[in-house]
Amino acid sequence: MISIKSEKEIDAMRESCHIVRETLRFVERHLHAGMSTKDVDQLVYDYIKSCGAIPSCLGYEGYPASACVSVNEVVVHGIPSEDQILKNGDLVSVDLCVLKNGWQGDGARTFIVGEGSEEDKKLVEVTRQCFFEAIDGLKAGSPLYDIGYRVQSYAESHGFGVVRSFTGHGIGREMHEDPSVPNFGKKGTGMRLKAGMVICIEPMITAGDWRVVTLNDGWTSVTRDHSKAAHYENTIVIREDGVEILTV
Ligand code: MF3
Ligand code: CO
Repeated sequence: MISIKSEKEIDAMRESCHIVRETLRFVERHLHAGMSTKDVDQLVYDYIKSCGAIPSCLGYEGYPASACVSVNEVVVHGIPSEDQILKNGDLVSVDLCVLKNGWQGDGARTFIVGEGSEEDKKLVEVTRQCFFEAIDGLKAGSPLYDIGYRVQSYAESHGFGVVRSFTGHGIGREMHEDPSVPNFGKKGTGMRLKAGMVICIEPMITAGDWRVVTLNDGWTSVTRDHSKAAHYENTIVIREDGVEILTV
């Protein structure tokens, strides 16, 4: 079932999402070579707590950290570790959820540590732009799979791959609600979006093959060909005349 949120509920989600945005900005400001991915997770934990909120990835289906910190060929769900030290040029995707007053917010960004290669900068920029292509003209009445169609067309037009095995999702009191929001699809198909739906659009884009495998820890998802990957996610509200982005 897909819930429609009231304006009061959206106001509450705006607060959680504001903390998501500020936490991601805080991480971006503090990211540097020599820190561990566990240090990144600690920044996320401390910042969200300082906002009087809950880092809701922690303990979610047994996930052991406040953020997913996915480096280079890790696409999503990288588990922070004190043994994994960031170095100049690393591509670092940080994905986190915030629970405040019973409402969730969800967002992700990919950062480059220090100086990145031109190819990596392009991957990060195209991944971000996939999101903005997806929401361009999106509004109540738009077919759900237009989102994936737009993401896929844009990514593939740049020679990049679109991860299929993870998708965006509805969000509200739960981190993951209906509908599933794939990053691929056929234009003009799927259910029609309605005003008041709140969804997360999260392109996961690879520099090479789009196929991914999960490591033995049961979480870490890496590209099969070890090409690098990037992730960009925002929580948005569908409106009659467009969308409202809650996490930027
Ligand atoms: N924030 C992720 C998403 O975009 C989910 C993270 S999985 C968790 O859906 F286990 F870390 F919570
Ligand atoms: Co999400």
